[in-house]
Amino acid sequence: MSSKFTPAQIRNDFPIFAKVMRGNSRLTYLDSGATSQKPRQVLDAERNFYENHNAAVHRGAHLLAEEASEAYEGARQKVAQFIGADVDEVIFTKSATESLNAIAYSLGNSDPKSKYALKPGDRIVVSEMEHHANLIPWQQLAKRTGAELVWFEVDADGRLDLSSAADLINVRTKIVALTHQSNVLGTINPIADLAEMAHKVGALFVLDACQSVPHFPVNVSQLGVDFLAFSGHKAIGPTGIGVLWGKSEHLEAMEPFLFGGSMIETVTMTQATWAPAPRKFEAGVPNMAQAVGLGAAIDYLQNIGMDSIANHDSELTGYALEKFSRLSGVTVIGPKDNKDRGAVISFTIDGIHPHDVGQVLDQYGIAVRTGHHCAWPLMRKFGIAGTTRASFYLYNDFADVDGLIASIEDTKKYFKV
Ligand code: ALA
Repeated sequence: MSSKFTPAQIRNDFPIFAKVMRGNSRLTYLDSGATSQKPRQVLDAERNFYENHNAAVHRGAHLLAEEASEAYEGARQKVAQFIGADVDEVIFTKSATESLNAIAYSLGNSDPKSKYALKPGDRIVVSEMEHHANLIPWQQLAKRTGAELVWFEVDADGRLDLSSAADLINVRTKIVALTHQSNVLGTINPIADLAEMAHKVGALFVLDACQSVPHFPVNVSQLGVDFLAFSGHKAIGPTGIGVLWGKSEHLEAMEPFLFGGSMIETVTMTQATWAPAPRKFEAGVPNMAQAVGLGAAIDYLQNIGMDSIANHDSELTGYALEKFSRLSGVTVIGPKDNKDRGAVISFTIDGIHPHDVGQVLDQYGIAVRTGHHCAWPLMRKFGIAGTTRASFYLYNDFADVDGLIASIEDTKKYFKV
């Protein structure tokens, strides 16, 4: 590989790759789209927090509370720098799903006179390639407010049908909520252009960046979006930590979505006022060790370089797409070319159910995801029940792709197709 780093060396940092899998084989982990593996540096950061600094942040006058707060706020600074944001615009949540729900819920609670309130006749624009986490919260918001939910269709190649953009994003549109990269197709959408269109009609742009932030450089001001969500666990960080980024002008105006300790300015028996963002949105003792772990994950990724990771992903994807194109009876669901495309390859094999494919691959120590990938409308669009999905990351190499292709051939032989 021409990468500036060596996946085999990277794997040495990830204890799970020492595990012996079924069939006495090594682990070929091709399921980073679902969750990534964690390096020792991230595990150590979490352990170190608990062993040396554990205390409830932003409370208490003791040394540990001070150190814990510094570590937690340090993680926020790392996230902000990573996505090109101001530190006060970064809110820690428990997951990207929670982040997306929080935006929809909070917008739904807006004062009816505010510019954020939705009413019957307003539009929310999504797409057919959304993960359920960036679809159902908007369906629910539309139901609560009487707004209309409309969507970009996906073409046969797995790209957004942009010919409808001017029609979908019009003066009635209040929110455009799209994925940066499809978790099923790998398609990378032209976000900066669509965000500009949204702003021209006064709409907000919400970006589901779960599959992009871990894999290539993402800068919120270059993209021109208003909100962005991603999770730590797909970016070699811990589970239980997500990020919600929002432009400060919106965060100041928006209603909190959780109420309780730490998010207030003043409280009487009958009312309360809110602390400034981000604290307004972080009620309760937050996921501190997980935030610190995410900070360590960002350090790890940045030490390698997001450009290098993106090049590596692209090289692997190009190699895999070329190999897939030579397999008979195997269809890639998503772009077949390696342009504006991430390191995710979904495929079907004629005559074999994806779950059966997954089970056979598992016998070789190859971990893939099978099923509808929390994107049912997209499956319906392609007229399929599900796919088998291989997703690559910095610890994968050409040998992993070769192993996958050979195992697909074996699967076909096994099922005699
Ligand atoms: N959204 C994750 C995936 O695509 C869980 O697998």
